[in-house]
This record gives sequence, structure tokens and C-alpha cells, in this order.
Amino acid sequence: MATLFCAAACRLPVSPPAAAPGRARRGLVVAVRAEAGVGGINPSIRKEEEKVVDTVLAGELSKPLTPYCRCWRSGTFPLCDGSHVKHNKATGDNVGPLLVKK
Ligand code: FES
Repeated sequence: MATLFCAAACRLPVSPPAAAPGRARRGLVVAVRAEAGVGGINPSIRKEEEKVVDTVLAGELSKPLTPYCRCWRSGTFPLCDGSHVKHNKATGDNVGPLLVKK
């Protein structure tokens, strides 16, 4: 199988989602849309860092289900704090968290 890489600027290898039992895995499409004229998708999180990268060991999560931010608006980034709701209402976007199961 070919190695997949993050479609954003990070270029880190990523694992494709597992196929549902009894089903073949279909193609993976990853899209990142930068907001024109505002310098990318990250408005303010850890801008002093060259690249914002976080690592999580799912087995060490304290809760059975942990939401991770994908909208870049969370005050508790990388965790979701619900800020995507305000962003979606203001912009008409449809972003939401990545839910990681322990
Ligand atoms: Fe960003 Fe929820 S706050 S996805």
C-alpha cells in the first residue's frame, strides 16, 4: 500500500482509516481549503511555531471519546471547545471535531 501524506503543508505520513468489517476501503480524499487573503487556515494558534504538530496516544486518553479541533478556532487547541459552532454560523462553513475513541 502506498504511504499517504498530510495534504496540508506538514507532509507528515498519515494512516488511512480502517475499512468497515466486510467492506473494502474506498479512496481517501483529503482537502484543505485556505482562506484567501488571511494567510491560511490558522488564524491565531501557536503562530510562533514553524509548524503546529501534536501527537496523541489513543490508549492514554482519559475519556472514552475525546474531540479534537479541526477548525483552528478552539481556545483549548488541539482539543475542541465548541468554537466551531460560532465559526460555522458566522461563515456558513460545516467544520466539526475529530472524535478519537480510546
Ligand atoms: Fe474547532 Fe470544535 S472548536 S472543531
